Amino acid sequence: MTVGIAGERKAALVTGASRGIGAEVATRFAEAGWDLTISARSREPLDELAHLLGEKFGVRVAVAVADMADAEQLDALAAAHTEAFGRLDLLVLNAGMGQKGLIAELPVRRFDKLYQVNVRSAYVLLQALLPTLRSTAEVAGAAKVVAIASITGVHPEPELAAYGATKAALISLCETFNLEESEAGVSATTISPGYVNTDLSEWTKDKIPAEEMITVGDVATMVEAVSRLSRYAVLPGVVLTRPGTNLGRA
Ligand SMILES: NC(=O)c1ccc[n+]([C@@H]2O[C@H](COP(=O)([O-])OP(=O)(O)OC[C@H]3O[C@@H](n4cnc5c(N)ncnc54)[C@H](OP(=O)(O)O)[C@@H]3O)[C@@H](O)[C@H]2O)c1
Repeated sequence: MTVGIAGERKAALVTGASRGIGAEVATRFAEAGWDLTISARSREPLDELAHLLGEKFGVRVAVAVADMADAEQLDALAAAHTEAFGRLDLLVLNAGMGQKGLIAELPVRRFDKLYQVNVRSAYVLLQALLPTLRSTAEVAGAAKVVAIASITGVHPEPELAAYGATKAALISLCETFNLEESEAGVSATTISPGYVNTDLSEWTKDKIPAEEMITVGDVATMVEAVSRLSRYAVLPGVVLTRPGTNLGRA
């Protein structure tokens, strides 16, 4: 199916956009004049952000509430974006959950939930949005996917085995996606940061000061850079690590 390029402006879909990294990424792209679909589970912060960005930057911001653990809601999210904008220049697979726990102790149901939210959702969205990504690349030259993984998916970290395993799976999924799709102009990049100063890393801020963590702006800068690459440049992955002896550590 070929989807027509409805809008003049580029369009992005950002999951987990109600706060943290996703909210910063959405703000950067609105500022750059992109139309957006922003998604998360809670409507209120999304509505607030959509209103703010629309007023400030004069772009269209559609809100779509969806739980990453629910495949039907993900299909509806994908359909809502395509119906609203008819194009998808950038898909940011950012929504995710963390979980700390030793392999000896963490119940397998927690692993299953992490897998649904951090990996399965990416598979469902990639599949549902592929026709729109392909048709956008055909007309606009390229369409990019950026998935926010984690340094724990590249370098193992004690007590983050389940989380790290889901992020390693996400990286593998995106690498295979590139093998299958990049010749048609659609390619994926994983960004794998160490601790970023958001709510998700709150639990460790007594040991690692928030102001010494990677910033949401650092991650958004990498997403922006990826969005500017031509179809002939595929960036498989980027690791963002904290300085000094923390290199390669979360
Ligand atoms: N912060 C870090 O240290 C760090 C480091 C490496 C990688 N990451 C990754 O970066 C991504 C963003 O994390 P963050 O630090 O920005 O976290 P955050 O501040 O906790 O934000 C998470 C976002 O995802 C949404 N979300 C969470 N669970 C969801 C679900 N089941 N369905 C739909 N949306 C859901 C949240 O909104 P609702 O709660 O309203 O749904 C929120 O918008 C995650 O994939 C995370 O694994 C974070």
